[in-house]
Amino acid sequence: MEKTYIMLKPDAFKRGLVGKIVSRIEAKGYRILEAKTLQLDEGILKEHYAHVADKPFFPEIVEYMTSGPVLAMIVQGNNCIDGMRMLMGATKTEEALAGTIRGDFANSTGENLIHGADSAEAAEIEIARFFGR
Ligand code: TYD
Ligand code: MG
Repeated sequence: MEKTYIMLKPDAFKRGLVGKIVSRIEAKGYRILEAKTLQLDEGILKEHYAHVADKPFFPEIVEYMTSGPVLAMIVQGNNCIDGMRMLMGATKTEEALAGTIRGDFANSTGENLIHGADSAEAAEIEIARFFGR
């Protein structure tokens, strides 16, 4: 059974969508093994978002991701790494299909409610980064 790292971003709290999003994850048959709120800082975001740290939009990511708590989660389930990416929807807001979390609830590429690890390797690194194991 796979494990992945999922994180609800500050707009999920601000918009009162935490419960709805967690419900969708559970309704798919995935289990939330652990969950905790965290307040991120620029240092951990530079690590977590190293692949976009040199992009012009990175300062906006930092401002957004430090604007309030996030919900860090370890999610377990059959094929849940790719499955959660499907459930989340595409990164670009215009490509996020209806029926996905981003497609249904977000209309901004930057402020897109949810993060999910994009590979088995990333899942392991991100679980270690945010849960220390
Ligand atoms: P990325 O890892 O490519 O997307 P995903 O979250 O789907 O894995 O990018 C990380 C975050 O950076 C993304 O969630 C939102 C932000 N971002 C932008 O604001 N604009 C962009 O053009 C891209 C590619 C990402
Ligand atoms: Mg990513």
